[in-house]
Amino acid sequence: MKRILVTGGAGFIGSNFVRFLYRKKRNVHITVLDKLTYAGNISNIADFMDRKDFNFIRGDICNGSLLDRILPGIDIIYNFAAETHVDRSILKANSFVRTDVMGTYTLLQRALKHHTTRFVQISTDEVYGSVKRGSFREDDPLKPNSPYSASKSGADLLARAFYRTYRLPVVITRSSNNYGPYQHPEKFIPLFITNAVEGKPLPLYGDGKNVRDWIYVEDNCSAIELVGRKGNVGEVYNIGAGEERMNIEIASLIVDMVGADRSLITFISDRPGHDRRYSLDTRKIRRLGWRPSVTFEEGIAKTVRWYLKNSGWWKAVRGGSFKRYYRELYSERLARAIERKAKS
Ligand code: NAD
Ligand code: DAU
Repeated sequence: MKRILVTGGAGFIGSNFVRFLYRKKRNVHITVLDKLTYAGNISNIADFMDRKDFNFIRGDICNGSLLDRILPGIDIIYNFAAETHVDRSILKANSFVRTDVMGTYTLLQRALKHHTTRFVQISTDEVYGSVKRGSFREDDPLKPNSPYSASKSGADLLARAFYRTYRLPVVITRSSNNYGPYQHPEKFIPLFITNAVEGKPLPLYGDGKNVRDWIYVEDNCSAIELVGRKGNVGEVYNIGAGEERMNIEIASLIVDMVGADRSLITFISDRPGHDRRYSLDTRKIRRLGWRPSVTFEEGIAKTVRWYLKNSGWWKAVRGGSFKRYYRELYSERLARAIERKAKS
């Protein structure tokens, strides 16, 4: 029986990863360690709570003594826990530096102490920065542009250093933008779906021509599991499906799928330091035998259907503190954009 620790397992990718493991594997015991920040949601993992091979611990990856109690007997750690939203990191980055850098450091340190046999660090394509042409390879330099991606780069490099210095068996995944069920509605795709359903403006940054390379979350989960099992220690694996799209294309697709009006799409002032394009060279993970199984058109249709069916889930998430955050980030920019529209 493999004993697995999934940090951040009540978040978007972490909870999908736990679901993926239970579907694909027998003989695993999974512990989720999650602080349940605004982004963590216990209902994402409610299905597993009664299982004998599942254990949920509410706690912080920065808490070394808690890790000392959890880690003995754990074979493999998947470190998903992080502050993840670029816009929030631009408003205030303290918690990003704390969790993404210090939290990862604490976890690495305690993994070393307890002789954990595999440490999978979940990094991101954002550590490379923006690329005009071509695609990033694993050995390209890190040039992060936001406080979020800088914090994730710190974590990524610490993970590398723990392998080089202490031979902690680390592998690192850098995936492109995920989408699918249980993604917090602060992120682009679920924000646009849920706003479209509610007939609210869809706040598109800049000229809407920024490009992201989209991967359906289950495909990322299968790649992460494969890297955890077969990846070479000390190495980095890019994970992407090669589905590059401009934001404006996705916004239009969503509006049409939801049956809303295209006039809801509202161009607002840009995100500061907004990376223009992400693109990954994924030949290395493909050589391990991985392929994406969901095209963007299939994935986005499934995702829109999931949000239409699960309005109770996202309506609960969009209450309270989300409303305050939304006002702080968007109100003025939307008001200016709507005024501009009215004048033209
Ligand atoms: P998310 O924001 O949905 O979930 C993050 C989870 O971490 C939440 O459940 C939160 O409660 C938990 N958490 C935060 N701080 C914690 C702490 N100090 N201790 C314990 N738990 C804590 O994020 P996500 O989109 O699921 O991303 C998961 C991981 O994948 C992150 O490391 C992120 O950087 C990485 N990643 C995400 C994407 C993407 O497109 N979403 C792409 C590439 C990499
Ligand atoms: O690339 C991987 C990264 O993808 C992950 O590491 C991050 O955790 C994850 O949040 C995501 O970062 P992005 O900044 O690319 O994702 P986001 O959903 O915030 O934005 C996607 C694109 O949509 C980006 O070009 C900005 C744009 N956007 C986003 C929002 C929230 C808008 O135009 N309007 C919006 O309101």
